[in-house]
Amino acid sequence: MLHLPTIPELRAWTRDQRVAGRRIGLVPTMGALHQGHLALVDEARRRSDAVVMSVFVNPLQFGPGEDLTRYPRDLARDRSLAGECGVDAVFAPTEAMMYPPGSTTRVVPGPASKRWEGAARPGHFTGVLTVVAKLFHLAEPDVACFGQKDFQQAVLVRQMVRDLDWPLELVVVPTVREPDGLALSSRNVYLDAPGRRSALGLSMALRAAHEAWRAGERDPAAIEGRVRGVLDNHAGLAVEYVAVVDPETLEPVSQTSGATIVALAGRVDGTRLIDNIVLGQGLV
Ligand code: PAF
Repeated sequence: MLHLPTIPELRAWTRDQRVAGRRIGLVPTMGALHQGHLALVDEARRRSDAVVMSVFVNPLQFGPGEDLTRYPRDLARDRSLAGECGVDAVFAPTEAMMYPPGSTTRVVPGPASKRWEGAARPGHFTGVLTVVAKLFHLAEPDVACFGQKDFQQAVLVRQMVRDLDWPLELVVVPTVREPDGLALSSRNVYLDAPGRRSALGLSMALRAAHEAWRAGERDPAAIEGRVRGVLDNHAGLAVEYVAVVDPETLEPVSQTSGATIVALAGRVDGTRLIDNIVLGQGLV
């Protein structure tokens, strides 16, 4: 597996793949790889001939007081895991390479960025779209894979791809979970044993939403009530939002007969965790 530490090296790699007629798959990450990232790689490998993974903790998407400085970083481990699961090249630039002095242009997301994560983390999605746009320019992917766990991010990237006419296929890969249901996240390393028990409330609440839906409940307020009931039983879990929304607009729905997402966010010991479910699909 190739290590591409600079932008010129990534550009040269991209050019070589294009000349050889290979389809390029991109898996953007902030490192601290887990099985969820590896599922993105599997999907990218299925859909392309050469897979590049970016590993970059993007400072632009962290707000003041968030966990930028303590975000887990272990490039040697990430590279070895990426190599084992069939990544062809890892692009791991420095902050100065991605945002040299004077770099002030930003990609501003549309209205679907205003609620939920966008409301809790002002500027977050501008940071995400700006770095993803740069990665798309540098790697020129034919296919790019993102995780369903960050559903609002996936929706906004899809809108950016559409609005800016990017010639690529965007694939959203189902969330990977621990056997007990906890969604994999690089931030789970912050949790101690009691914290992990509290965090489990998130996936249990989503399961309750799914079960209510399967039993015929279609009223979003009632489904939200079920979710909150489970969350309230988990001491140590401070709920930030429970959203029963349309998967395109991210606006709250008035009934759940069409495609509907239940998304939630909460804090455990200062660690912010998110999760979501597509009603009717269950925890996949
Ligand atoms: O989902 C992530 O890990 C990040 O938001 C991404 C897409 C790599 C951009 O920094």
